[in-house]
Amino acid sequence: MFKVTIDNITVEVEPGTTILNAARKIGGEVVPPAMCYYSKLKGSGGKCRTCLVKVAQGSAADPRPMPKLVASCSTPVQDGMVVQNITSPEVLAARKAIVEFLLINHPLDCPVCDQAGECDLQDLSFKHGLEATRYIEEKREFDVVDIGEKIKLHMNRCILCYRCVYTADQIAGKRVHGVMYRGDTAEISTLISQNINSDFSGNVIDVCPVGALTDRTFRFKSRVWFLNPMNAHRDCLKCSGKVTAWMFGKEIYRVTARKDQFGEVEEFICDECRFEKKQTSDWVIEGPRHIERNSVISANHYEKIKKPSIIKPLEEKTEKQE
Ligand code: SF4
Ligand code: SF4
Ligand code: FES
Repeated sequence: MFKVTIDNITVEVEPGTTILNAARKIGGEVVPPAMCYYSKLKGSGGKCRTCLVKVAQGSAADPRPMPKLVASCSTPVQDGMVVQNITSPEVLAARKAIVEFLLINHPLDCPVCDQAGECDLQDLSFKHGLEATRYIEEKREFDVVDIGEKIKLHMNRCILCYRCVYTADQIAGKRVHGVMYRGDTAEISTLISQNINSDFSGNVIDVCPVGALTDRTFRFKSRVWFLNPMNAHRDCLKCSGKVTAWMFGKEIYRVTARKDQFGEVEEFICDECRFEKKQTSDWVIEGPRHIERNSVISANHYEKIKKPSIIKPLEEKTEKQE
């Protein structure tokens, strides 16, 4: 095992572990933000630079610091490595600059964006962003397009993290979209006249860290913080059937995969569960889902409603099963 110290906390990890995953083992504030890395997607990471950290000591054998900040999601730890994240003013300044960079072409329209309240970029800007933009040049703009029967692409909001591309490749089993062109003309696009429509295509929505890919069956139906996220499950032949059902009263407004404390999907779900099962009777509702991250969603204290009477029939079903 290798010993690595991050922000003065030492942890032991397997050789080959990245700095980011070592920090995740410690947890809390020590964990750098990650906008493109996704532990369930091979090859992800190294695109957004939000996870930059300072390596103050390379290893016990070679204690020299690394000359530049490094991407923690793609830098493996060495035995005796010393890393600084929030304890380094240099890292915090770089993160501020990265946020500013990510926002230069980004529309500042959180108030009308479907992702608001559960957006990684919004959280990042809140924590590290500037109060006002210094960008005066014209922003690049794209039309909003449907890239599948159930998926909407708003390219203006895309940060080119490539997560959706990896998801389509590795989870959905059939990729008909990718990143076209290069530099500031790069954009997510489908093959001409092709739609994203495999059994697992909806997962691109869940992995998208911003509001670039959204669920057409839910878009603009409600702000997420008005809904109560509930753990729910059903017998499904295609996926685990374990989901988060976002409810308003007795109604299910949308269905998503369950996400962990790092905002990553725990188990990818199929499109049938996500898009076709919107009746309360389709699901066994287990109870409120805890939203780990600081989020406006938690602000309505929905977790206090342990077993709401509104879902009585299913509550009985759950108890019988227990
Ligand atoms: S994607 Fe996030 S940061 Fe961008 S407008 Fe939507 S909520 Fe705001
Ligand atoms: S659409 Fe979303 S997931 Fe895909 S590259 Fe853009 S930001 Fe990333
Ligand atoms: S999370 Fe490391 S570069 Fe994006």
